[in-house]
This record gives sequence, structure tokens and C-alpha cells, in this order.
Amino acid sequence: MAIEKTFSIIKPDAVENNHVGKIIAHFQEVGLKPVALRMQHLSKSEAEGFYAVHSERPFFGELVEFMTRSAVVLMVLEGENAVAKNREVMGATNPAEAAEGTIRKMFAKSIGENSVHGSDSQENAAIEIAYFFRATEICTH
Ligand code: CMP
Repeated sequence: MAIEKTFSIIKPDAVENNHVGKIIAHFQEVGLKPVALRMQHLSKSEAEGFYAVHSERPFFGELVEFMTRSAVVLMVLEGENAVAKNREVMGATNPAEAAEGTIRKMFAKSIGENSVHGSDSQENAAIEIAYFFRATEICTH
């Protein structure tokens, strides 16, 4: 299996509820190593740009409002099969459907406030990483 990078956000609900350390520890335990990490309070335009693909969805306004409510943790995770591994350990988008032991099952309350974001493909991982991090901020050596 190939070593990949993926992009992860620990969302405002999880930061507000002091779950940052537990979530990062969980990633590390499954072999997803943070190689870039920053805490940031997103602006409205940063959140709108990041989620531009969802701009026509009825929940877009609610999503941007939530993502700008308080700070998030932005991360690049590296590991074997990182994109799929991250999505597996996050669990389903809707926490009500997430499997036992997944991050969303453990920490998330609703589909809107679902604690973590993770890239859905290697192509989107590269786009999302570049949206928030410069190449020099990624510590792979
Ligand atoms: P994420 O993986 O960050 O990508 C898009 C986000 O939109 C998703 O997680 C959810 O938090 C959010 N989302 C998806 N569907 C809904 C919905 N029906 N209502 C509110 N938010 C949603």
C-alpha cells in the first residue's frame, strides 16, 4: 500500500468540547501521522471557498456559519492508504449512522456538527491541503 497524505479538520464542536487531543491520539494510533497542523478561526470567505462544491446545497449557509463559529484544527495526515483510512476512522457523515469506535460515533452530535472533515479522494486531498498549507509547512522529513 502506498504512503499518502490526506487533509483533516477538527471542527468547532470538537474543539469547543475539548476533544482535540483525543482525536489526534486516535489518528496516531491507527497510523495517521500529523505532518502539518494549525489552529485557526476560519473567516466566512475561507469557509465558503473550502466548501464551494456544496454552495448550492440547502445546508450551505448553516455549514459556513458552523465552521466559522469558533476555532478549528487544520491538519495534514500521512500514512499508508491515508485517504481511505481517515474516512474509515471518522465514520459516516451522519453520526447516527457511524460505526462503533469511529470518531463521529464517539464525539459528534449531528450531521451538521460532525466533529471532523476528511478528504474523499487523493485528488481532493491535494486540493484541500494546498488550500490551507504551503509546501514548506508540511514536515515530512
Ligand atoms: P464534511 O465531510 O465536512 O463535508 C461537507 C459537510 O456538510 C459535511 O461534512 C457535513 O458536516 C455537512 N452536511 C452534509 N449534509 C448535511 C445536512 N443534511 N445538513 C447539514 N449539514 C450537512
